[in-house]
Amino acid sequence: MKREAFSSKIGLILAAAGSAVGLGNIWKFPYIAGENGGGAFLLIYLACVIVFGVPLIMMELYIGKRSRKSPYGAFRALSGSGRWQWLSWLCVLTAVLIMGFYFVVTGWCFSYLSEALIGGFRGMSTDTLAEHFTAVTANTPRMLVFSILPVLVTSAVAWFAINKGIERMSKLLMPMLLLIMLIMVIRVLMLEGSMSGLRFFLHADFSKITPDVFIQAMGQCFFSLSIGMGTLVTYGSYMPQEQSLSQASVQVVILDTLVAFLAGVIIFPAVFSFGFNPAEGPQLVFVVLPAIFEQMSFSWLSGVLFFLLLGIAAITSTISLMEVVVAFIGEATATTRHPLNRRTSVCIVTGIAVVLVVLCLLQQTAFSVFEQLTANYLMPLGALCMSVLVGWTLSRPDEAAYLNEKGFQPWMVKAFSFVLRWVVPAMILLVFLHGLNLF
Ligand code: PHE
Repeated sequence: MKREAFSSKIGLILAAAGSAVGLGNIWKFPYIAGENGGGAFLLIYLACVIVFGVPLIMMELYIGKRSRKSPYGAFRALSGSGRWQWLSWLCVLTAVLIMGFYFVVTGWCFSYLSEALIGGFRGMSTDTLAEHFTAVTANTPRMLVFSILPVLVTSAVAWFAINKGIERMSKLLMPMLLLIMLIMVIRVLMLEGSMSGLRFFLHADFSKITPDVFIQAMGQCFFSLSIGMGTLVTYGSYMPQEQSLSQASVQVVILDTLVAFLAGVIIFPAVFSFGFNPAEGPQLVFVVLPAIFEQMSFSWLSGVLFFLLLGIAAITSTISLMEVVVAFIGEATATTRHPLNRRTSVCIVTGIAVVLVVLCLLQQTAFSVFEQLTANYLMPLGALCMSVLVGWTLSRPDEAAYLNEKGFQPWMVKAFSFVLRWVVPAMILLVFLHGLNLF
């Protein structure tokens, strides 16, 4: 059967950017930057994006585009043997674990959106909002409803496959997301005192740069760009043949970084102009922002727009997470006696997602373990292994010829292969060793 593909270049760009742009940009990035010195963090983050982001996205898209397979078959096709099969299992495992906690945070966004819609934060101070956040997130039945809702929305998109599902949704939601962001940026920059927030975010205080900031920045870079667990391999397998790998990678990186940057531009000026602490942690957008909206004119609209923004960003990411597992199941069963079609796979993955969501809701530990384990260990590990595999594969004449044909000069292939073989693994290992406190 012919593999479905995105109908246009922009389809792939919006889908991949939709995967990358998510809670990582709007919820996580501002609070991690806030805790790690604002501008200083931004600078290191940008360095990570250039060193890891561009080559690794290009690598994953290349794996998918070249093999026209999801991680299940792609590593085998590339290496010519089954020795790398476990790497595909690592990818699905990571995708499944991310789904567990990601749907829960998406549930918080949906729940906050519903409250913003009915004006539920009216008259609440930051203290009451902090208590409110604890109470809402601890309300298991409510959270169950609000977390399963995004699971069902995501399943519905997966059900309609690539063109009618993923591509159509990305083309609808991504422009909406960018528009809402622009409105919010203009709105916030008009607030009195917003400039001190902007200064905090843009001024690099080098005394704040410690080795730990590097680890945080690297983990954030992998998570935010959806690198190291096969999302982009899967999307790459639906990439139009005529699309350029290098251009697509740079475009996705720019979009993702722009959104993270704009999230900072929205959040810090608002935080500063109302005298809050930028290092508020994970609650930053759920506690400080509703409090700020309450003090602004057009408070209802600001709250609704912001949580809508979060919800949209989250959904385009969960769509890509689910696609990794759906495509994997389809391919893994294709040659067995019971091949599963897309719709059956979607039902299975929906079931798995619901079970994990329930687990994360009932066990706070599961939530934290999944969150830490995936971003800080499994994704860098996946990226490290893929990088070594592809780096060595590129030294084969047939692979180099393929890239030459696609417009890569021979020196570019050499440089790409060198970066994948040595630079990326060395940097990731360095960060790992540091994380294990070996120096
Ligand atoms: N990149 C997404 C974000 O920033 C998270 C994600 C990771 C999505 C891995 C898909 C795969 O929120």
